[in-house]
Amino acid sequence: MIKTIFWKNNAVVLIDQNALPLAERYVTCKSYQEVISCIKDLTVRGAPAIGVAAAMGAALGALRLPSLQPEKFRHKFFTICGEIAMSRPTARNLFWALERMKKVVDRTRGANQQHLVRQLLHEAKMICSEDIEINRQMGKYGSPLFADGDHVLTHCNAGALATAGYGTALGVLRAAVGQGKKLHVYVDETRPVLQGARLTAWELKKEKIPFTLITDNMAGFLMQQGKINKIIVGADRIAANGDTANKIGTYSLSVLARAHGVPLYIAAPLSTIDVSLKTGKSIPIEERKSEEVTHFKGVRSAPAGTKVYNPAFDVTPARFITAIITEKGVLQKPFGVSIARAVKGEKRS
Ligand code: MRU
Repeated sequence: MIKTIFWKNNAVVLIDQNALPLAERYVTCKSYQEVISCIKDLTVRGAPAIGVAAAMGAALGALRLPSLQPEKFRHKFFTICGEIAMSRPTARNLFWALERMKKVVDRTRGANQQHLVRQLLHEAKMICSEDIEINRQMGKYGSPLFADGDHVLTHCNAGALATAGYGTALGVLRAAVGQGKKLHVYVDETRPVLQGARLTAWELKKEKIPFTLITDNMAGFLMQQGKINKIIVGADRIAANGDTANKIGTYSLSVLARAHGVPLYIAAPLSTIDVSLKTGKSIPIEERKSEEVTHFKGVRSAPAGTKVYNPAFDVTPARFITAIITEKGVLQKPFGVSIARAVKGEKRS
């Protein structure tokens, strides 16, 4: 299995997703500031992977603190978490993971600092290993939705790379293939950062799952030709009513899917759901630098001075989503009800 992120020799090690698919190399972060840089520049990306990186980054920050009075330690640790939280705004998992880390300190208030640091590291490692198990559960619940011979479109990268391992949307497809179903995956290249072409294609090739790469603007034509009969994507944040923020371009796909009668599935862990937001209108959407659009690998492709708008995510309204696959089961409409139940811990399938 691809190792996306792990803890080694008091450092956080990340597969360099900016180097893929040309080079398979790892980056070692020895400080939480280095983890922040890696989240910002997409060395590590994908909502669940960002959550794990944030938790490990926080543990690293705690480890590097000098010996302090308990209250001072708590204050410094919460400041570190606050800095990490500023790295990217959309993926719910980032904030969810940091909240879990902060709870460790509050639970063990006043404890010896060395013990606390060990507890924090333990929690970060748990967030990492639980993520893989959660993805496998999503695979178990989601795979029956896919049949032998399906032609499935996916957008961005929601695979092992976007998580601690196995993947969300790609994990579901991986599970279906593991059951002997023959699937063909269409991979949207995913402008402007090409997570589809660079990362999803790399993963599928490694897994020997048959796939065809297309540019994003081809998806509608393929649906019109009857070449795609299902769509599955991941999510960065899901509001209480099921509105889903995911990689820019997902909304367009959802409209096309509706027009062509193609089901659209979202695969995401419950940690991506933000019930504090009633609808997708309140989901913060990250805007990234203009060079992602005007340049490719440092080479300019638009005239100097070109004005750019570069939102990294869009919001797909719940009404265009067929079902949401989680580790607790497949959530059906009305999502307001099924999400509330799943978040409360009631099992659905
Ligand atoms: O900007 P990115 O590459 O972090 O965006 C990632 C996505 O939009 C993924 O589809 C999403 O995080 C789901 S990953 C399991």
